[in-house]
Amino acid sequence: MPTEKPGALDLTGMQRAVRWYPPAYDIRVEAAPIPQIIDPDDAIVRVTLAGLCGSDLHIYRGHEDVDSDLTCGHEIVGEVVALGSSFHPQVTGRPELYSTLRVGDKVVSPFTVSCGECHFCRIGFTSRCVHSCLFGIPSLPGGQAQFVRIPKAGGTLFSLSALQYSATGIANRDLSHLSDSSLILLADILPTGVFAAMQALQHPKIAPMLTAKPYPLGGHFPAQTSSQGQAAAALQSEDRILTIAVVGLGPVGICATISLLDILASLESSQGLVYQVIAIDPLEARRNKMQAIYDAIDSTGKGGGRFAIASIEDGKNLAANWTNGAGCNAVLEIVGNNSALTLAYEVVRPFGIISSVGVHQEPPLPFNGRDVYNKNVSFDFGRCPVRAMFPIALDVLLKRQDVFGGVGTDSSLIEKVVALDQAVDMYKLFDKGDCGKILFNPWI
Ligand SMILES: NC(=O)c1ccc[n+]([C@@H]2O[C@H](COP(=O)([O-])OP(=O)(O)OC[C@H]3O[C@@H](n4cnc5c(N)ncnc54)[C@H](O)[C@@H]3O)[C@@H](O)[C@H]2O)c1
Ligand SMILES: [Zn+2]
Ligand SMILES: [Zn+2]
Repeated sequence: MPTEKPGALDLTGMQRAVRWYPPAYDIRVEAAPIPQIIDPDDAIVRVTLAGLCGSDLHIYRGHEDVDSDLTCGHEIVGEVVALGSSFHPQVTGRPELYSTLRVGDKVVSPFTVSCGECHFCRIGFTSRCVHSCLFGIPSLPGGQAQFVRIPKAGGTLFSLSALQYSATGIANRDLSHLSDSSLILLADILPTGVFAAMQALQHPKIAPMLTAKPYPLGGHFPAQTSSQGQAAAALQSEDRILTIAVVGLGPVGICATISLLDILASLESSQGLVYQVIAIDPLEARRNKMQAIYDAIDSTGKGGGRFAIASIEDGKNLAANWTNGAGCNAVLEIVGNNSALTLAYEVVRPFGIISSVGVHQEPPLPFNGRDVYNKNVSFDFGRCPVRAMFPIALDVLLKRQDVFGGVGTDSSLIEKVVALDQAVDMYKLFDKGDCGKILFNPWI
């Protein structure tokens, strides 16, 4: 079984891996075959760190209707150790990595496969790529292992060795100071947090608060031709206060809150936006972590808006009290159960938005047609298109090294880095919310 770095490695033997067995709560750390190239577009990555995510818990708890054993994990940072025959310098007309990726390059893998070539990938909806596949299911072994096979690797992977872009357009940024424990956040939870925030803030129903024009005038349509005599009433300052609740303060909810505050702070300084944010979780430990992180962020990252961290009951009261009973303009739902959706529906105001990234299961949603009609509520659900969110998430990662850079301090998002052998205990702890973000180092 390999214990050393590549080079000294035989990539044909067995490896250590975290494996789950049905029906539920059965984690074993055991030997599994080292994955092989089975398609020309594949890469094999030596995993340097793998994350434990709230999404792993859905399978762990037996909520995903999976009936065969699997290798867990979908948050991966590592180093390329083998490439399929599709990778060579002369490749044209395909994603750039097919011609540039090299053995030895450092990479982050998003939590799902995306080809970079289909309609959905081209327009940025990469999480619904026609080849989409989640790591850590029976048909695609996950990253809580020493090695992982990456399908469609030229479209899926980010090469940190050759990263040349970010949302602010600064090319060739030096990422050498970023630790692997920080970079792994790009695989899933930071882009997902940014996505939850942007889905809400880019919604046309938020436009009146951002533009001071009443609906529908602040949207994307060309200039309106309404006559002066029938102009709509001017917005008053109280109409422009944007109130947003975040429901769920696990690692993803914290990433969403940090990203949301960062965007709101920049809107405050660029266009005088007034905002208030209520961050809700029933668990005191999760609320305390959020508070320590909020305290550590400087004013450019959180602005001057009102901010409260609350239990469920307190959150409901604040949502009413801070808005004269109207409720929140938007709610980010980052839990993945019906109690959270019920809370989101309760605290959202008419014409509000629920941006849900929680992974939901089979039971029917806790609202009926009359409920959604009666509030004119907008829902956005689903999987984060990590590839598309990556440049923006990278900017937040670089800016917020105070929170994302460290491990194990009060204000660091990542709580600990442990050996794969501790997986059984770590799944138990994380399942109960008794710890925050955990990473596995498969080589210790
Ligand atoms: N859409 C995506 O692409 C995507 C990506 C990553 C994770 N996720 C999902 O995001 C969710 C959160 O992930 P995580 O890693 O932070 O998980 P987590 O389990 O650590 O966090 C969930 C938090 O929600 C809290 N909670 C439970 N019920 C609540 C309620 N009614 N109201 C408020 N808070 C409540 C829990 O106390 C916990 O702190 C999971 O469902 C995960 O599967 C989705
Ligand atoms: Zn995840
Ligand atoms: Zn695709």
